[in-house]
Amino acid sequence: MDKDLRPIIWDDENNQLILIDQRKLPNSLEYFTCKDYNDVAFAIKDMVVRGAPAIGVSAAYGMALAELNDDNIEKAYEQLKNTRPTAVNLFWALDRCINAYKSNKSILDEAKKIHEEDIEVCRKIGQIGEKIIDDGDTILTHCNAGALATSAYGTALSVIRFAHYNNKKINVIADETRPRLQGAKLTAFELNYEGIPVKVISDNTAGFLMKKGMIDKIIVGADRVLKDYTVFNKIGTYSLAVLAKYHNIPFYVAAPYSTFDFKNDLEDIVIEERDEKEVIYIDGVRIIPEGVSAYNYAFDSTPPELIAGIITEKGIIYPNEK
Ligand code: MRU
Repeated sequence: MDKDLRPIIWDDENNQLILIDQRKLPNSLEYFTCKDYNDVAFAIKDMVVRGAPAIGVSAAYGMALAELNDDNIEKAYEQLKNTRPTAVNLFWALDRCINAYKSNKSILDEAKKIHEEDIEVCRKIGQIGEKIIDDGDTILTHCNAGALATSAYGTALSVIRFAHYNNKKINVIADETRPRLQGAKLTAFELNYEGIPVKVISDNTAGFLMKKGMIDKIIVGADRVLKDYTVFNKIGTYSLAVLAKYHNIPFYVAAPYSTFDFKNDLEDIVIEERDEKEVIYIDGVRIIPEGVSAYNYAFDSTPPELIAGIITEKGIIYPNEK
């Protein structure tokens, strides 16, 4: 059933990109159509589509739309590149497309390849990673690293899905993930859609559940993994990893190689700061006094010593094993 939950659809007949509008979930399943690269850039910036692999695949189709519409390819590349700074899949996918273009290959073919590969890679992450899950485990996850954040299956949620497909009885706890609520809105939606037991907690409940012995493992996704295995992921991931260490709970990351950045170092990475309104308002209602502002960092970084394993499509990396 999960295979039906595809956030990214290329419409060959009309040469357009159709995205699940993730801003509208879980209350309505609506689609957002992109007819040119500007629409795709908007969709990424405004989080119609989000999650590192899904951003990369969408940007690739944005480049394909620029090609089909006879737009300036370099301009499209620059505009798409400037949508969100932290998830490296965006730059990885854009570079593949511009290289295809420079080699006189079809960008659309390259985008379709990136899309198909992502489905395969996420399936493999699930098949490889499900081995770390024991029957009866309760697994905590943060943000949404699911089918909605990729082309299908997800990364962290692919591991959870494949454990479920292999008849392991598991329970999932989803951090609500303030301020955009990807855990409450998206992770809870897609696990519930598939019949995988899930409960949502406010982010500040995680430590208490760990202390009570209610969490067996933690699995999260990643927006960027550096060569020393530092992991950038949704804000709050670092706090979870520190708590996990204190409570002796294995903390896993699931990420494809398209999320690895072998070039840059910690100080080179830009942590996205989004509009403070995302923190100040809930459903259009101001919850912070007038005149008070807010921090809204979208990501944080977790050092390798807090990570038990990084599950990739090629196997599990153990950052602390020499
Ligand atoms: O701001 P978002 O929703 O794009 O952030 C998404 C995450 O942090 C995910 O955990 C990450 O991209 C991995 S998705 C498989």
